[in-house]
Parts: sequence; C-alpha cells; structure tokens
Amino acid sequence: MERDMPYTPAIAAATAPAYEKVKAIIPAIEWPVHAPYVHAINQLKREKNAVILAHNYMTPEIFHCVADFVGDSLQLAREAAKTDAAVIVQAGVHFMAETSKILSPDKTVLIPDLEAGCSLAASITAADIALLRERFPGVPVVTYVNTSAEVKAASDICCTSSNALDVVESLPGDTVLMLPDEFLAQNIARQTRKKVLTWAGHCEVHERFSGAEIRRYREMHPGVVVLAHPECPPDVVAEADFAGSTSAMIAYVGDRRPKRVVMVTECSMSDNVAVNYPDVEFVRPCNLCPHMKRITLEKILRSLETMTHEVTVDPVVAKKAKEAVDRMLAVPLRDAVRKAA
Ligand code: 13P
Ligand code: SF4
Repeated sequence: MERDMPYTPAIAAATAPAYEKVKAIIPAIEWPVHAPYVHAINQLKREKNAVILAHNYMTPEIFHCVADFVGDSLQLAREAAKTDAAVIVQAGVHFMAETSKILSPDKTVLIPDLEAGCSLAASITAADIALLRERFPGVPVVTYVNTSAEVKAASDICCTSSNALDVVESLPGDTVLMLPDEFLAQNIARQTRKKVLTWAGHCEVHERFSGAEIRRYREMHPGVVVLAHPECPPDVVAEADFAGSTSAMIAYVGDRRPKRVVMVTECSMSDNVAVNYPDVEFVRPCNLCPHMKRITLEKILRSLETMTHEVTVDPVVAKKAKEAVDRMLAVPLRDAVRKAA
C-alpha cells in the first residue's frame, strides 16, 4: 500500500530536474506519485551518508532519479568495493547485496525487500558444489555471481556475464565447471577451446525467449538490431547480432546508434536506455523479472528510514567468498563489447 505522500509545489520544484530526465518515459500524470518519494529518498541519502547502487533492471524512476551508481553486476560489485559511503542500499536482488557486503564488510548493506531473489541463485547450494568436486577432482569451479555467499565461498573464482569468457580462459587446464547457468555456460563454450561442464540452472526471465521469437521480430520489424543477454538459450544468442551483459548492450546502443533495436532481456532495460537515445526506436517485447520488480521507491524510502533489511554474511563464509570475487576482479577485461559467436 502506497502511503500518503503529498505532492507540494516545493517538491515539484525540487524534483523538476529529475522529471526532466524521465519525461519521455514517465507520463506527467504519474510524476506526482513518484516525486515525493524521489525527494524524500534523495534527502535521506545525504543525511545517512548512503549510496544507492541500482542494477540496470530497476524501473526508470529508481534508475534515473535516485540511484547514485547504475550498472551491470560487475560494475555494481566494483562500485561496492570502492565506495566510501557508510551505507549501501542495493536496488537489485539479494545476491547483489551479499556481494556488496562481501566486498565492503564494514559497511551497512541494506536491501529494500528481502524476498528479491533469483532463480539462478536458488538453483544450486554449496553441498552441490562439494559433490561436483568429488566427481570432477581438480577441475576449477567458476560460479556466476548470481549465487549465494555460501556457493561463492565453495568456488575457485566468480564471473559475471561481462567477464565470463575472460575468467574461463584465465584458468589452468582444459576443463572448467561453470555453474549454475547452463545457457551462459553453453554460450561461453562456443567461444573457447576449453571443455565447459555445467549445471541445469536457468534465469526464469531469459529462458523464456526462443530463436523462433527472434526470427519473428526480424520479420515484423525489418532492419531491427537484436541484442541478447548471454543468459538466453544458445539458439537465441545464435540469432542475435550481439550478446553481452546488460551494460554491454547499453554501450552497443550508445556507440552504434542503431535505427531500430530490440533488447532481448528484462523490460526495464529498454525504458532506461530509451530515455538517453530518443533517436533510436526500441522494439519492446521483453520479460519481467519478478524479483527485481520487488524493489520500489516506497521500499527504498522505508529501507533508509528504518535501516532495514540489513544483509549480513557469516564472516568465515564472507572471507572465502571474497577470495573468489577478488580473483574475478583481478582478471583483466579484454573486450567489454563482444560480438556473439
Ligand atoms: P548483468 O547485469 O551482469 O548482465 O546480469 C543480468 C542479470 O540478470 C542480473 O540478475
Ligand atoms: Fe535472476 Fe534472471 Fe532476475 Fe537476473 S533477471 S535476478 S538472473 S531471475
């Protein structure tokens, strides 16, 4: 239930620059609902020395109006490691908040909704990794950051969608275990000589796209450039013009300015990017992530007011998980914007 937050002339004036940024995507009739929250959050952030780290899948009023840093999973992790704010509010899902806590153990890390999970993170446990290690002794274990702290702690190194190939190729030997995203692993396997063993985890948002659907977009929207996230099934990536992390897709639009584009990923991406590129036509089929969409302005405000929900990680687990995340952060990125194989 939204609380009663009056839209006063003072709030209208204070939030006018924020509305200017999003007016192409948020109708004027909706702004009086968002503006009081935007105003209160931005004030409270300063009072509490807090920063809001927002994933690219946050809705435009969060992404453009209250976030201090926006980005993909790798960029948010790097930001969490270097921020000097006392409080991090993670506008994203739980594994992202845990990663921030692992990298900044002395800071207070808050998540506005504890139920913001992830189907990939839910697909594997540390006990599963122990069994895989018994079955494949000596094979390095790479885990996607979309996992719990315990799973990270049981791994040799983490990866994200923007550095997965670089991480896999940085490892010794000719075989890797790449967990838990089966499709990301299959998409990487097509770009490396290494044997990639995987797990049957899927992103519930990206697994719903199909190659046939991409062919339909091309028929219906001639000339459309197709950008896909590597969590999509391999037949989708094969049909795409480019596959990359959420930020790599944004960079593609910024650098190449396609006339017409479809972002084969979560719905808020196109909204957020369209704000900056009015000259680009965005074809909008997309799938919503119900976990990301749990984060709202109202919950961010409550989170800052009540300093909840604090995310904690057992220090022993956090130390081991940090080793896996730090190893990932030490791998140089060769090519942030990479073509689909
Ligand atoms: P990236 O933003 O790292 O590409 O990840 C996408 C995603 O689904 C995060 O949950
Ligand atoms: Fe997890 Fe997919 Fe949602 Fe990202 S989009 S949080 S991978 S379920």
